[in-house]
Amino acid sequence: MSIKSIDEIALLGKKVFVRVDFNVPMKNGEISDDTRIRAALPTFDKILSSGGAIIAASHLGRPKNGPDPAFGLAPVAKRLGELVKAKVILSPEVVGETTSKLAAALKPGEILLLENVRFDAGETKNNPDLSKAFASLADAYVNDAFGACHRAHSSTAGIAEHFSSGEKAAGYLMLKEVNSFDRVLKNPARPFVAILGGAKVSDKIAVIENLLSKVDKLIIGGAMAFTFLKAQGFSIGDSLVEDDKIDLARSLVATAKARGVELLLPIDHLIAADLADDLKPEATKDANVPAGMKGLDIGPATVELYKKALAGAATVVWNGPMGVFENLALSGGTFAVAEAVASCGGYTVVGGGDSVSAVKKSGKAASISHVSTGGGASLELLEGKILPGMAALEG
Ligand code: 3PG
Repeated sequence: MSIKSIDEIALLGKKVFVRVDFNVPMKNGEISDDTRIRAALPTFDKILSSGGAIIAASHLGRPKNGPDPAFGLAPVAKRLGELVKAKVILSPEVVGETTSKLAAALKPGEILLLENVRFDAGETKNNPDLSKAFASLADAYVNDAFGACHRAHSSTAGIAEHFSSGEKAAGYLMLKEVNSFDRVLKNPARPFVAILGGAKVSDKIAVIENLLSKVDKLIIGGAMAFTFLKAQGFSIGDSLVEDDKIDLARSLVATAKARGVELLLPIDHLIAADLADDLKPEATKDANVPAGMKGLDIGPATVELYKKALAGAATVVWNGPMGVFENLALSGGTFAVAEAVASCGGYTVVGGGDSVSAVKKSGKAASISHVSTGGGASLELLEGKILPGMAALEG
């Protein structure tokens, strides 16, 4: 694939349409985590310091019925203005007369942020007219929205057709993300250990299938482990399970064996009858969960097993928590794995919204080689897919 870096295209005096992923978590109208805005700053600084102007575009949430103040980008524009040393103008619309006028008047060193691109129904349909309208605002296109590049939308894919190979490029965040996943997936230093968790096997089938041809060890945690355990004949009590995926789990175990991949499943659990704020979970004595109880985190013996499996790993990729870490009493397994990943000494990548917030909560994020800003996008890379937003940049 030949994708240009932002360093390889002309920026002086240019108006650059930059697709970013400013889909930040909001609480009572305030941004609760501005990581995604900060992550785009190196690209913004590069364009501004090279004498360019920025027309920035992002989605926020999933508005379905046109403009909706609850999904407006005003808080994002405000936060961006606090973080960059540049004037940030927020257009009240996605495209139209006002946006065109504001874009035409934009001077080098300034930023025009369009309103939430999903306010226009054409965005998620990759509507050609909307793609053309976006492109008409600018001289160049930079995609730095790693978190959205698994979407073939107007501002992530269709727009790129309107720029020649010398006018479109990946921004620094996109390059960092892609290089990190490439390092893990294309030529990993060994031993290579993958950790997969989360609630459902069905969400991770393609990832497991792809990783089984690459890893030395595959660690499984979270509720998805119970489908594997049930397939092996353990009792799982009232734990979450996908009964229609039991045969599949059995065949994945067989594939791992045939390929010489060590597949690790929990050997004990923290259990409770149900989730509650003041929970006091008990540890099981083995991999079985008694009737009427739910497995909600990996147990202490499993923590030791997984720590051992991670010690000395040269490459680690992690997606999905080990338990219901949002509940303090059930965070021990996930945080212990975070600690083991952070201290293994290898090249470590964490992707996926839940595992990223778990790593941040555990205080270990700074010791991870790469904490991805993409949830769905990082999962699709781990599945071995080519992402439309990246493919569109090929020249
Ligand atoms: C994300 O948060 O994963 C990205 O911003 C993509 O959002 P979407 O799933 O609504 O397309």
